[in-house]
Amino acid sequence: MKVVTLTINPALDKSAQVEEMTPFDKLECNNITYHPGGGGINISRVLHRLGIESNCLFPYGGKTGEHLVELLQEQNISVLATPISILTRENFAVFDIKTGLQFRFGMPTEPFLEKEMTQIEELINKSVTTNDILVISGSLPKGLPVNYYSKIIKNLNSKGVKVVVDTSGPVFNEVLENELYLIKPNQKELARLAGKESQTKEEQEAFALKMVTDKIAKYVVVSLGKDGAFIAHKNGIDYIAAPKITVKSTIGAGDSMVAGLIYGTVKGKDAKEMLRWGVACGVSATLSEGSDLAHIKNIEKVLKLI
Ligand SMILES: Nc1ncnc2c1ncn2[C@@H]1O[C@H](COP(=O)(O)OP(=O)(O)OP(=O)(O)O)[C@@H](O)[C@H]1O
Ligand SMILES: [Mg+2]
Repeated sequence: MKVVTLTINPALDKSAQVEEMTPFDKLECNNITYHPGGGGINISRVLHRLGIESNCLFPYGGKTGEHLVELLQEQNISVLATPISILTRENFAVFDIKTGLQFRFGMPTEPFLEKEMTQIEELINKSVTTNDILVISGSLPKGLPVNYYSKIIKNLNSKGVKVVVDTSGPVFNEVLENELYLIKPNQKELARLAGKESQTKEEQEAFALKMVTDKIAKYVVVSLGKDGAFIAHKNGIDYIAAPKITVKSTIGAGDSMVAGLIYGTVKGKDAKEMLRWGVACGVSATLSEGSDLAHIKNIEKVLKLI
């Protein structure tokens, strides 16, 4: 069982520190660091820390794209990158030492060329086969058709690939046309899938279970932030509460959680145990500073608390 993660909108995440954020002055930046960014890429990185090697598939362009590929290779992540004409975006985060606040700036991506979209689809088709897991995570770059993910999944459905999706907005609604293995909406995303602004606990459970009985997904994992998560499966619903911990940064909690769920799948765990790994990885991400993800030391500690 091979795991392939897809990041259609990757980023090179640059971060820096300033003494104090003030307008007009030219601020001196220190401690410049670069990190690979994007949903699927984050998931591959956490899987690597869990001892599971995945293929990290994404398009890359220009010097920033090459830098991103290098960073992942340095971390011993197996990269399946395809070159495109669009420069990989560089996101920027500034940490203000005086206030301890972090300011994050996200950059847009130019639309790809038609033939580049096809090139990515072909690479995916070539890279996954029966019983493999394809993880689709993150947003679509501006200009890509809203059914882009859905089209990719349709092409794979006859192959019996286990497809995991974590995204948001209309793109998420679109992928539900297919038979999926697992989806991981948070509460807001779940409500949106149901066409609502918010849902009660009973409505959440009923809607998640209905997606399972309607064969939209085998597992629906709904993440509840500090409250943990629940999983809907063919035999009902299970909850795992997150232990009380001191949160450093919630960035990457969702991606780390998905990595934990995939770990559970690869290791053949049942639904509740799979969720326990998911929650442990999500919680562990909050114990790491900034955009750093879940670390194995914390995962082991948190597992004991659940
Ligand atoms: N404040 C918190 N305290 C403890 N655990 C947390 C907290 N926030 C997130 N987690 C853990 O991470 C998991 C995923 O978090 P969340 O529900 O916020 O997902 P998300 O909204 O998809 O996150 P992201 O913004 O990363 O996409 C939770 O189920 C929980 O296990
Ligand atoms: Mg999320």
